[in-house]
Amino acid sequence: MRSKILDLLREHRGEYISGEEISQQLGVSRTAIWKHMRALKQQGYNIESHSRLGYCLRQTPDRLLPAEIGAKLSTTIIGQEIHYFDELDSTNNQGKKLAINGCPEGTIVVAEAQNIGRGRLARGWFSPSGQGIWLSVVLRPPFSPQDAPKCTLMAAVAVNEAIMSIAKINCGIKWPNDILCQGKKLVGILTEMSSDMDAINHIVIGMGINVNIELDDFPPELRDIASSLAIEAGGKISRLELLTTVLERLEYYYQLVIRDGFAPIFDAWRAMSITLGQTVDVIGFNSKFTGVAEDIDTDGALLVRTDHGVEKVLAGDVSIRPTK
Ligand code: BTN
Repeated sequence: MRSKILDLLREHRGEYISGEEISQQLGVSRTAIWKHMRALKQQGYNIESHSRLGYCLRQTPDRLLPAEIGAKLSTTIIGQEIHYFDELDSTNNQGKKLAINGCPEGTIVVAEAQNIGRGRLARGWFSPSGQGIWLSVVLRPPFSPQDAPKCTLMAAVAVNEAIMSIAKINCGIKWPNDILCQGKKLVGILTEMSSDMDAINHIVIGMGINVNIELDDFPPELRDIASSLAIEAGGKISRLELLTTVLERLEYYYQLVIRDGFAPIFDAWRAMSITLGQTVDVIGFNSKFTGVAEDIDTDGALLVRTDHGVEKVLAGDVSIRPTK
């Protein structure tokens, strides 16, 4: 009911709609409407009430509320079920719990803040309240577990494209899935999987997007290596618009992969890469070397030319040497 009331308010945004009209259109009492309005105001909606004129929606809150996401989203799989939290330990942890309990494919988890945000290689992820997009998406892809790491490249392509179109900044992908602007990290992606030997049960793609974090809000140790879209674009970015665009691009690429395989993802990734052609330092599980990043192969692995031939990097930490 609440989302139907919001739909009506949105249709009349900036003008009044009477309690009588809402009550007739939705078939509920005016007292019930009054109670819903009170709850919406508590959620942060700026709704003016006037005894004679009715209700007028002036402003929606700067929160990633399911009703706001749903009203903007035009996907058919991703985001059809939305779990929203003011604060969580980690959206990936919650996504994994939901996946184990059988949630539908495309379920998303969004939190305004994370208190134990998790990054790759057992690192943490800074996730302050209301300043970023802390998101996890549950997928149940029909392909083999070996293909799961490629989903990470797919997610990076989708997010990079969404950022370029909404924030209009020049960012690119560092292998495998960091999104950087001017050498500083804007986005991190953590993909986790549960599988049998030959089939994926589910994957949870976690994305952390630094949207409206100001430089002073980052802990000192991150200020030289991390940035936000607001810093790079020179102004605040709508988290809601960006989130819905990310979900739409992700669904587009996911459906493309199911239809045509990963080749189109690799092509898009190459076009958005800031790693290829650069000298990189690689720290793998058992090795450390330097070379020139030449390409990615059909596993999504990074191919690095060293003095001893081409090394295939499937996992590890890759840093780009700054050009002098
Ligand atoms: C990285 O180290 O680059 C990956 C960072 C991934 C952070 C995101 S924020 C949403 C999701 N939940 C988590 O705990 N981690 C991911």
